[in-house]
Amino acid sequence: MTNSLQQTLKTTAQVVNQRLDQILTLEADEGELVRPPKLVAAMRHGLLNGGKRLRPFLVIQSAALFGVDQSRSLQTACALECLHSYSLVHDDLPQMDDDDLRRGQPTVHKAYDEATAILAGDALLTLAFDLITDEKCHGDSGVRCELANLLARASGMDGMIGGQMLDLEAEAQSPGETGIRVMQQMKTGALIQFACTAGAVLGQASNIDRSRLAHFGNTIGLAFQLADDLLDVTSNAETMGKAVGKDAGRGKGTLIGLLGVSEVRELLSKAVEEAVDCLSEFGAEADILRQTAHYVVERRN
Ligand code: IPE
Ligand code: IPE
Ligand code: MG
Ligand code: MG
Ligand code: MG
Repeated sequence: MTNSLQQTLKTTAQVVNQRLDQILTLEADEGELVRPPKLVAAMRHGLLNGGKRLRPFLVIQSAALFGVDQSRSLQTACALECLHSYSLVHDDLPQMDDDDLRRGQPTVHKAYDEATAILAGDALLTLAFDLITDEKCHGDSGVRCELANLLARASGMDGMIGGQMLDLEAEAQSPGETGIRVMQQMKTGALIQFACTAGAVLGQASNIDRSRLAHFGNTIGLAFQLADDLLDVTSNAETMGKAVGKDAGRGKGTLIGLLGVSEVRELLSKAVEEAVDCLSEFGAEADILRQTAHYVVERRN
């Protein structure tokens, strides 16, 4: 990873963390009755616990490609991070992947209890839609409505949640290479694709540019999950902040299990080339997204 990308990722993560911290306060907002302290504490545990903030970064950088300032894309970026963090809280539940460690800390159901983790996840999901439909997201209600619709699609039965269902079913019966790709595209690719498309929507880009960004997002989204599966085999819990070496034991449908590590590494380099190709019509202003494509597959955690 280049030093400048590393620095930009870090600075963006700080800005995102600061904004999320302001949003998710214990004090009730105007018009609210009460924010149950245990619920908010569990939500904060799941959200403000040191994620890489890659999805917010992609929203902000994709929007910047179309001239949208970070101060205007931050709201959408934060909405997406709430949704992603909810997906992790539920993914870790005993009834799903049954994990005790996330982002270097006990998972929400370990730090609290299962019922609270379910509710904290639900509340992060609904908070995402609260944020994305708020005027701070975009002045034009048509743009806000479109973003909310795209986020619902990316996270619902034909997106992340549908992919999580396929992931659980794959534990019992491997779906084969095509099935694994579909599952990965849905459970992980959809939210990453949303991140990139959202930037183009916020910038009211042309349809052709929107589809370029959507294709870019889909390609790095698939590669992101492929890299996660690779790291499950090659990395360690300390670096990852979560348990590793679990996928094979749980019979998870991964391409590592099907094709092996070296073939997956080749697929990853091809994915970077494909992602970079999606941006060929852009100039140096897309360099940061090109570098991000490399980062997604070369990352260490
Ligand atoms: C983890 O996502 C879940 C997957 C989709 C593989 P990240 O690796 O982006 O997790 P955080 O947000 O940085 O913790
Ligand atoms: C991605 O898959 C999960 C989500 C869509 C939330 P994993 O189950 O592999 O993610 P990790 O490895 O637990 O972060
Ligand atoms: Mg999972
Ligand atoms: Mg998991
Ligand atoms: Mg994983």
